[in-house]
Amino acid sequence: MNEPLYQLIYVSVIAPDAHPTCVADIIRTSRANNSLHGITGLLVFDGGRFCQYIEGAEDAVRRLSDAICEDPRHEQFIVLHAGPFDGPRLFSDWSMGYALSHEEASLPGLALLRGLPAVAGLQGLIPVLDLEP
Ligand SMILES: Cc1cc2nc3c(=O)[nH]c(=O)nc-3n(C[C@H](O)[C@H](O)[C@H](O)COP(=O)(O)O)c2cc1C
Repeated sequence: MNEPLYQLIYVSVIAPDAHPTCVADIIRTSRANNSLHGITGLLVFDGGRFCQYIEGAEDAVRRLSDAICEDPRHEQFIVLHAGPFDGPRLFSDWSMGYALSHEEASLPGLALLRGLPAVAGLQGLIPVLDLEP
């Protein structure tokens, strides 16, 4: 039987007083925690904005997004889409893939989307992202 899956995508802006090494810290914590909780996903950062997609069991995804939302290292947290979906997972190989986006307009453009088009928009960026496994 397939596991019931839930996905969530949000955008946010790095806090003005966040330390420059905070993104590396976030990735390290994410990779350690997410694999323990069956979460997979992708974090994209463009030097100022974040866009993160997470997927897994609904309670695990909700608990994680509540923790991320409260994190002082970023602000203007906006959920673009959250809901159940039929698998397979979109990022099954990544406990948290990380990509730096060099294209200035990509994340602001994504932030305008709501619902499943936001997920599709993130997937559409993948070919132009510098994605490290
Ligand atoms: C943009 C952003 C993305 C984050 N993504 C994750 C994540 O995918 N997984 C995770 O465990 N923590 C993530 N965090 C960190 C959480 O907010 C929180 O600090 C962490 O879950 C606490 O883990 P700890 O109790 O092991 O220290 C993220 C934080 C930020 C600012």
